Amino acid sequence: MVWLLIALLALLLALYVYTCHWPKYPIDADAWPWLKRRQNGEGTPDSWADELLSQMTLKEKVAQLSGDGGALFLVRLGINVLLLGRFPNTYAGRNSRLQIPPFSFSDGPRGVVIGQATCFPVAMARAASWDVALERRVGDAIGKEVRASGANYFGGLCINLLRHPAWGRAQECYGEDPHLMGEFGVALLQAVQQHNVMACAKHFAVNSIENSRFYIDVKVDERTLQEVYFPHFKRCVDAGVASIMSAYNQLNGEYCGHSEYLLNDVLREQWGFEGFVTSDWLWGVRHPVKPVVAGMDVEMPYNKYLGGKLHSALKQGEVDEALIERNTRRVLRTKLDFISRTDPQDYSEHLLACDEHRHLAREVAEQSMVLLKNEQLLPLDVTREQTIAFIGELAVVENLGDHGSSRVSPPEVVTLLAGLQRYVEDQASGTRIIFHDGKNVAEANRVAMDADITLLVVGYRHDDEGENLASNQKPPGQGKQKVAIGGDRSSLSLHETEEVLIRQTAEVSPNTIVAMIGGSAIVTSEWDTNVEAILMAWYPGMEGGNAFARILFGDVNPSGRLPFSVPHKADDLVPFSAFAESIDYGYYHGYTHLDKTAVEPAYAFGHGLGYTQFDYMMLSIDGDEIAVGDVLTVGVQLKNSGERAGSEVVQLYIGFDEVVQSNGIERPEKLLRGFRKVSLEAGEDTVLSFEISAEDLQRYDSEQKAWVNDIGKYTVMVGSSSRREELLCETFSLVKSPLS
Ligand code: BGC
Repeated sequence: MVWLLIALLALLLALYVYTCHWPKYPIDADAWPWLKRRQNGEGTPDSWADELLSQMTLKEKVAQLSGDGGALFLVRLGINVLLLGRFPNTYAGRNSRLQIPPFSFSDGPRGVVIGQATCFPVAMARAASWDVALERRVGDAIGKEVRASGANYFGGLCINLLRHPAWGRAQECYGEDPHLMGEFGVALLQAVQQHNVMACAKHFAVNSIENSRFYIDVKVDERTLQEVYFPHFKRCVDAGVASIMSAYNQLNGEYCGHSEYLLNDVLREQWGFEGFVTSDWLWGVRHPVKPVVAGMDVEMPYNKYLGGKLHSALKQGEVDEALIERNTRRVLRTKLDFISRTDPQDYSEHLLACDEHRHLAREVAEQSMVLLKNEQLLPLDVTREQTIAFIGELAVVENLGDHGSSRVSPPEVVTLLAGLQRYVEDQASGTRIIFHDGKNVAEANRVAMDADITLLVVGYRHDDEGENLASNQKPPGQGKQKVAIGGDRSSLSLHETEEVLIRQTAEVSPNTIVAMIGGSAIVTSEWDTNVEAILMAWYPGMEGGNAFARILFGDVNPSGRLPFSVPHKADDLVPFSAFAESIDYGYYHGYTHLDKTAVEPAYAFGHGLGYTQFDYMMLSIDGDEIAVGDVLTVGVQLKNSGERAGSEVVQLYIGFDEVVQSNGIERPEKLLRGFRKVSLEAGEDTVLSFEISAEDLQRYDSEQKAWVNDIGKYTVMVGSSSRREELLCETFSLVKSPLS
């Protein structure tokens, strides 16, 4: 009995050590010979890969094609992720005999998931800042923290397009528009890669339904793929992304991790991608040969198929050894390229959640919150003698986003209530804050009734939306369907109890402000006319409470703009089905769908208010014709005509109505093709210029399998959102180039 107990304790101790003290393999350039060889001019990553391949056994080559650690790694991963809310480093391809460095994976996108790190606002919030330079600073901070946590491969570049806001992982991406997505994706990846971290863009492709992600077959025609779902991936490839992660789902009847069309024809042949592809985890491939043939290079996080099963397939002659060499070469070349670059700085652990990064997290939250509605109630005046009833349980919880692979564990979180209280105390003002969790509506109403202003916090948490770790891993019919907790949203509206709380509070408190927490569109039509102001605060990161207070009291003038459309009702959008076996993704979604169906959104893509006002004037184009190969310069005057300094997001769309009328080929009514965030003092004005090229007008022709330009008339539209009423318009013509 005693021995049994001792054995059990020893087992538990071993499990604890294995789980919590995982080895940290060096990933600094100095630890490997390749930097010296590069400095001495002894070869290139390509020649080193060839040299290594000539020395490697078949077993060693195959070992490059999956994560290290085998199935046991899952124990460590499971306990850390599910019980401890953090990620261990995940290694792949370490070979000490031949001095081949591993890649060491950290997920994202709201920061580094290994250990403790800075938690930024979720990617969707950052997109709402429409500030690409700010995203570069976030990427720079994340790149440093990736290295400080012993990783050199970053999986936080989630660029799946938001086709529908019910998608659970909407918060991880940058919204519904391919242009906005591409700009932000490139900013993050380039900044991260400056720290010699390999960035991984995911999930290729059309991964935008969570609950059925392991089996759903997404049907999309080629034109839609090329124009809507691929452009931002292509931009990341053009910008030098080191790696791509294939998606779990199927595309047109084939698992993305097995798809020669996606991984070979599009990625490598059409776009010239030279990095390596990894699989999404555990269920990203389902066969030992198909992924190898398609060019899915590394199975993550361990060799379920690309280990023993691949060796057997090799023995049976079911796969050509040349393909193993081809895939291994891609992995080696990319790793050796990055590991042989001189590091721009040291990466000590002090960088993790350091003051500078926390300040940045606050700045990002401030730039990203979107003021949807304001009947002159905001900003609040902190110097007044006043009582604010702050109602809602979300005000006191650490609500940073979902609890899936993007979960970050910061050392501290400033909740909304803590931020507001700290602000009011610091100002030593006459403002009093009374908190109530809002669970008992009648009681909450009494608190609201006695206050001058009521601030309600409503919205979502990780159990409403996010990555669905418990979803069914098998197609329906082949396994028991598990209930989805988190995952895709079951509704675009708030919880019913919250809607009741808002309506009843607004009846007793004429000065009601609603702050919403969530990762994508929330339908407000059931109650928005009852309240004075609505602020979309997102999952605002570890400094969210401080940013929130500074926005409400006007230290910061809100300048966030929606990266998606908010409809009046869910039916106004394209259909969404969380557990479908298959779905058709049509050519339209988001604002292109609303334009097409002539349905007004509640809040348009690009919408957002501030505490000042901007006027647009004098839209001009330098000429009225453009030929292929030329650029047109578009100018517009912008004036801050209000009484406070503030920032505006100037948006440029191209309208296709006229060309469609003349040639009958379907196009969206308009598409975003440029934007710029500009800060102006009260009364200040400026002239902005944008360039349009013939490439901005192109469409994909599936028969010719090429991008083509249609000669005809186009409209340039510039303004403050995608609503036509808010855009100044001018037309111009695309003409044949004089040489053609
Ligand atoms: C997610 C990926 C993530 C991976 C590792 C998977 O479940 O779909 O986005 O990178 O886990 O964290």
